Amino acid sequence: MRINIITIFPDFFTSPLDVSLVGKARDSGTLDVRLFDLREHGRGVHRQVDDAPFGGGAGMVMMVQPLAEALEPLADTHRVLFTPGGTPLDQETLDRWATLEDLTLVCGRYEGIDERVAEHFIDEEISIGDYVLLGGEVAALVAIEGVTRLLTGVVGNPTSVETESFREGLLEEPHYTRPAEFRGWGVPEVLRSGDHARIEAWREEERLRRTRERRPDLLDE
Ligand code: ADE
Repeated sequence: MRINIITIFPDFFTSPLDVSLVGKARDSGTLDVRLFDLREHGRGVHRQVDDAPFGGGAGMVMMVQPLAEALEPLADTHRVLFTPGGTPLDQETLDRWATLEDLTLVCGRYEGIDERVAEHFIDEEISIGDYVLLGGEVAALVAIEGVTRLLTGVVGNPTSVETESFREGLLEEPHYTRPAEFRGWGVPEVLRSGDHARIEAWREEERLRRTRERRPDLLDE
């Protein structure tokens, strides 16, 4: 899979893309990430990519021309714009993206982006949550991690991809590993019983309890 990133901060991505399973997926050729510096399409000696908003108001707006020039050669890819005003990112969206050959992630900055970019050069506008970041770079990294772990061969044990939170619409149960006692804190007895039916029943109950407590919205749907 190839992921193109359009950003004014290509350096932002260097170490996150080099380490962990993302770094491994790139080394093995499973994932090909290409960084595009939006400033290369900027205007004038300062390579300006933003300007004051029509109609007045605070903050700057990313201009249509640099983004149009950067995105035109990527017209045959699936183009995602990260913005707090987008549709919320979820596991289904990541599952869908992981089936694509070519995905383009556009990182917004400043107060906003000229609406003509979204209208003519973007397939989907996505938010990673109801809060405002300085730009879309962190959101792009979220997407890259979320997609990379779904690519064949990246995660050693495929069932850990299948059974994690959200795919079944429930949060995960708590996990424990050795030692069985630490500073007097034990582990639920059932997990050490060897009784697999009881263990699965306990896990299912814990998934439901957690989801009811922390994410009742997931049960309403
Ligand atoms: N850019 C700034 N805030 C964002 C958010 N919450 N999601 C995606 N992109 C953003």
